[in-house]
Amino acid sequence: MQLNIVDDYDALSRAGAALMADLIAAKPAASIILATGETPMGVYRELAALRQRAQLDASRLRIFQLDAYMGLGPDDRRSLYGWMRRSFLDPLGVPDASVVRLPGDAPDPEAVCAAYDAAAQAAGGIDLAVLGLGPNGHLGFNEPPVDAAAPTRVVALTPASVESNARYWGGPDDVPCYALTAGMSVLLAARQTLLVVSGAHKRAILYRVVAGPITPDVPASYLQQANNVTILADKAAWGE
Ligand code: PGA
Repeated sequence: MQLNIVDDYDALSRAGAALMADLIAAKPAASIILATGETPMGVYRELAALRQRAQLDASRLRIFQLDAYMGLGPDDRRSLYGWMRRSFLDPLGVPDASVVRLPGDAPDPEAVCAAYDAAAQAAGGIDLAVLGLGPNGHLGFNEPPVDAAAPTRVVALTPASVESNARYWGGPDDVPCYALTAGMSVLLAARQTLLVVSGAHKRAILYRVVAGPITPDVPASYLQQANNVTILADKAAWGE
């Protein structure tokens, strides 16, 4: 696990974009699991700027949606797919057809979860997982406690996650209680992982991820054993 501490959020966004751009240049048709959430937004903006300057071609990527709320269609304002489309797919010119979705409104959620894991295998595995860190240590919606072998599946959100996500949608009552998430098994098998962490409110959990024991109670602590993990954190998240 490599920990890179940078000055601030802008530096984090530039460094994250540089890492992703290098991967895309080396493998234009790479398979990438992509998080929404606030932290990676600066990375995606930097990538979009590179594309505008014709320094990046992301059009051949295969994107795997990291997580989704249950029961929401893609046009619901709270849909994480909609957020990914606005922040990454459209600005980077990735067509919808190149996305392996986790459709929250699918009639058979278990079947779409199994199809997701099969698609990751059929793609030859995931080249890069781009992840944020939940205040409770979750990755995607792999809520604690979680097993490292957990597949892609339906999960109940913990009160901590409902509370933390309420800020996006107006209040806790607007946050759905169930979600679909890429499983820990898929995330931990990625050939490379970029975890982006910003802000003093992540300091305690980031320390446990990096220096604490590997435990189901801190899902991201399993990254200590994963391949080629880069943690990009700003000074606010790590301290001077
Ligand atoms: P954030 O979300 O990037 O908005 O902090 C991270 C998460 O909860 O997974």
